[in-house]
Amino acid sequence: MPFIMSLLLVIAVAGTAAAGPLDGPGAPQALVCSACHGFGGQSQSNTMPILAGIAPWYFKKAIQDYAAGKRQSPEMEPYAKQVLQFGVDDVAAYFAAQPRTATPVKPEPAAVERGRAAAVQCTVCHGVSGKGDPSRGVPDLTGQPPGYLRNQMLLFKADRRSPADDQLKALKALMRTIPDEQLADLAAYWSSVR
Ligand code: HEC
Ligand code: HEC
Repeated sequence: MPFIMSLLLVIAVAGTAAAGPLDGPGAPQALVCSACHGFGGQSQSNTMPILAGIAPWYFKKAIQDYAAGKRQSPEMEPYAKQVLQFGVDDVAAYFAAQPRTATPVKPEPAAVERGRAAAVQCTVCHGVSGKGDPSRGVPDLTGQPPGYLRNQMLLFKADRRSPADDQLKALKALMRTIPDEQLADLAAYWSSVR
């Protein structure tokens, strides 16, 4: 057998033997996401959310909201539509199966400490651990990049993320009571939680 063919055989066998980041039916569709969200959804950037280890129910809601224009994002809308077309369950399963590492972005320690005190008001919904509550549609905040978290809070505050969503009224009312500087501290704190 020529060398290249045996090499391909080895790769094929290795691919079926061990669950790696590139097997599973959602993997081919997920490749295009790595340009912004990092390889395997492990974003290294301060503004792009980490998708590795994301809960499938939340992933699906986000994709549906982007595709429907409820979460307005010119970057995400075409990709969300594509994911729905090719099968959101497969892509959700792919990202849920990727091991999650917290963001490499290190917030300022003083901001983390200021945020810790203010974070009590988030725990009613996100839990003391910040890991969320699937039964109430509340996502995990921990380890996400601080820049991303802060930006989403500003979008809630201005009612620009999912306007007219009744389930988010209490969250948005709370965000409006918090000064922007404190939103940055809260983002720093939740980002630092493991
Ligand atoms: C051109 C860059 C880009 C590409 C490519 C991209 N995204 Fe995104 N994605 C973004 C940005 C920017 C956001 C944050 C948008 C916002 O403000 O809501 C985002 C947000 C998301 C979120 C929301 C996460 C959360 O915590 O709410 C999901 C889920 C997501 N993207 C999935 C995907 C998938 C799946 C793909 C590939 C099919 C993909 N993205 C490709 C830029 C991109
Ligand atoms: C009344 C319940 C409630 C409270 C209180 C609450 N949240 Fe949330 N939060 C939610 C829900 C529900 C979502 C999911 C929104 C969606 O489905 O689009 C969410 C989403 C978020 C997101 C977006 C996460 C992502 O991946 O895009 C951030 C950031 C956030 N909350 C921060 C906070 C912070 C910080 C506090 C405290 C100051 C807080 N929340 C208090 C219910 C709450």
